[in-house]
Amino acid sequence: MQITPQRIIRAAGNRAEVAFRSLLRLFIPFDPWHRMPLAAKDYAVGIIEHLNALPPHRRGRVADIGCGLGDILLNLDFEERFGFDSDPAALRAAEIVRRSHRRGNARFAAFSFPEDRLGGLFDAIVMAGWLHGIPPGSSRRGIGRLFADNVRPGGCLVIDTVSKNGYPHRHDAAFLLGKLGGNVEQIGAYPCGRRVWKVTKEPDYRVGPHISRRSQ
Ligand SMILES: C[S@@+](CC[C@H](N)C(=O)[O-])C[C@H]1O[C@@H](n2cnc3c(N)ncnc32)[C@H](O)[C@@H]1O
Repeated sequence: MQITPQRIIRAAGNRAEVAFRSLLRLFIPFDPWHRMPLAAKDYAVGIIEHLNALPPHRRGRVADIGCGLGDILLNLDFEERFGFDSDPAALRAAEIVRRSHRRGNARFAAFSFPEDRLGGLFDAIVMAGWLHGIPPGSSRRGIGRLFADNVRPGGCLVIDTVSKNGYPHRHDAAFLLGKLGGNVEQIGAYPCGRRVWKVTKEPDYRVGPHISRRSQ
């Protein structure tokens, strides 16, 4: 690997970010996992690049569920950004990262999947890096509800799955997404058998017990 000035600057930036998060953790007791900077999360960079390449009219509102410190959310180029997490410490730290790094507008709120209900419609819903902790049946039901109730026609929902031993649940994307009635695509492949999937709702999808594709 060639050592270039750009690489040196990037490495120094990443070290500074880890130091900043380690310091922040002295005051807000979030999970040590969150010390990892965005550059170390290839799947997160892939999701950001993919969603930011959507046409502008598909980048209105985005929800990042399980947003952690907002590494994905705060790098998304959407008009309205909402970060949700079940951990109040992560949400507090995310708000500090947003302000201190001048990452623009975003709102953070507590949300626990699959029990809680999300309000409103989104052009994109992201759930990355944690679904392997939720059993398959609950994951499928929760995703089904979010897709039907909270994804705009023409919008999408993004999840990741892992296949390496050691994760509590190694999900099958076909089981989780196959019956939603949307278009399922793999949009990324990474180490640990991590795959990133996007399911897109048809632009003419209409919700309702008699006209929903799911009930046909
Ligand atoms: C490994 S981190 C990933 C953070 C972020 N998505 C990323 O990729 O950088 C997982 C985050 O999901 C949150 N989380 C885990 N299970 C959750 C659930 N059932 N509902 C909401 N958030 C959850 C955790 O609190 C944590 O902040």
